[in-house]
Amino acid sequence: DHIPGLQKALLDWFAVHQRALPWRVSYTPYEVWISEVMLQQTQMERGVSYFLRWMQRFPDVATLAAAHEEDVLLLWEGLGYYSRARHILAAARKIMAEHGGVFPSDLASIRALPGVGPYTAGAIASIAFGEKLPCVDANVERVISRIFDVDSPVKQEPAAGVIHRWALKLVPEGKSREHNQAMMELGALVCRKKPLCGACPLAAFCISHHLGIADQRPVPGKR
Ligand code: ADE
Repeated sequence: DHIPGLQKALLDWFAVHQRALPWRVSYTPYEVWISEVMLQQTQMERGVSYFLRWMQRFPDVATLAAAHEEDVLLLWEGLGYYSRARHILAAARKIMAEHGGVFPSDLASIRALPGVGPYTAGAIASIAFGEKLPCVDANVERVISRIFDVDSPVKQEPAAGVIHRWALKLVPEGKSREHNQAMMELGALVCRKKPLCGACPLAAFCISHHLGIADQRPVPGKR
């Protein structure tokens, strides 16, 4: 069973190589939520500057919920996909109205917030609240398809299910926060589109690397 060794290698690597990001300081659910939504279809550097500006203006759910929609949209300007900003405001108002202003901690209530899909809900539940759930974004899809040599298109079945089951199996008890971010960070910094296997802490555990075909994973869908 290689899983404990893989988990430890990944966490050790993350402890040394993680980027200092503003939402990696206190891990409030509010900050995790806003950062995850901003980072969807947004480059990291841009995400960081928008996040810092957002938190100055709307430091908590209550401040955000009391804001005018025009002001929220103005702060979002340049990020695109404005429905994300409208959903964030609606969700903040729902948290005030239905959860007494306290960010809900159970997955079903998180998922019921406007604009919060399965990925974002899992990210908040695991990174902010420590729930034993994986976060599978495109980075993590790539990492897992390479480690386990998933040889069919990753967005379709059976690959998507295989990837989710492995992603869940890899989450170490009590370390969801670090592990999930480490998987994303590895995908962003090392297990990139052009993989940097020489720098990878998981190379010893990676089937497609051993086969010399890491650059052929993930298998794209037909389009
Ligand atoms: N991309 C989306 N969420 C992320 C996170 N928490 N860390 C690194 N990259 C991410």
